[in-house]
Amino acid sequence: MTDFAGKTIWLVGASHGLGRAVAQKLDQEGARLILSARSENALEELASELTQAQAVPLDVTDAESVAEAARRAGPVDALMYNAGAYEPMRTQDWDADAVLGMSDVNFTGALRVLGQIVPAFVKAGRGDITLVGSLAGYRGLPASIGYGASKAALISLAETMRLDLRDSGVTVRVVNPGFIKTRLTDKNSFKMPQLMEPEEAAGHVVSAMRSPRFRTDFPRPFSYAIRAFELLPDWLVYRGK
Ligand SMILES: NC(=O)c1ccc[n+]([C@@H]2O[C@H](COP(=O)([O-])OP(=O)(O)OC[C@H]3O[C@@H](n4cnc5c(N)ncnc54)[C@H](OP(=O)(O)O)[C@@H]3O)[C@@H](O)[C@H]2O)c1
Repeated sequence: MTDFAGKTIWLVGASHGLGRAVAQKLDQEGARLILSARSENALEELASELTQAQAVPLDVTDAESVAEAARRAGPVDALMYNAGAYEPMRTQDWDADAVLGMSDVNFTGALRVLGQIVPAFVKAGRGDITLVGSLAGYRGLPASIGYGASKAALISLAETMRLDLRDSGVTVRVVNPGFIKTRLTDKNSFKMPQLMEPEEAAGHVVSAMRSPRFRTDFPRPFSYAIRAFELLPDWLVYRGK
């Protein structure tokens, strides 16, 4: 989408962090925004700061809530699925509810929202879809039960959709950020390489949304290191038993 002016974009996961910063940037570019997440007050406050934005609260884990929000949003030109949940967790500390919760927001929630949008885009022969994955989706990383697997599933979904929808008029892309300073990473106690402010990360996302390119990984060189790690042989990575 080279020009956002006058386009209606549904941002799911717009209330805080990266989504909020993307909303601010797209607003400056003249887009009309539908802002969704659970926190109605945060969405209303953001909408009041923007030029053309409407708050449409939803819970992506609830199919009826998603369907109702899609009805309220009406026809849209583009969707960005950015809703995300993260709890650092080692396999030894398995918390069944938290693991299912992460999967339900990060992956199954995307399926619920896409189910409301994709058929209309395909029928119209136009539409633009951005899925926010994570560099953590490329290889199973330690202490990432629930999060890493759900992001890997989202990346795989994006790959399939992109292949199926080639030349259909519907563009699908995946954007995989590294560490961004938000309430999600505030839970991490380790040093995060190339930690970005949400505004900087939003700049990468909006520039990716302008392009038909399928995949955007950032920031470099951290994203290169993660992709290189993906190429290492199993005998080196999964040593021991
Ligand atoms: N921070 C990072 O380092 C990092 C790195 C790579 C990828 N990402 C991804 O970037 C995206 C944004 O994350 P962030 O770091 O900006 O975290 P954040 O500030 O916590 O934002 C997450 C967004 O998802 C929404 N959300 C969570 N559960 C939801 C639910 N059940 N229904 C609807 N909306 C829900 C939140 O809104 P409510 O709480 O109001 O519902 C919020 O708007 C996520 O997909 C995350 O996985 C983040």
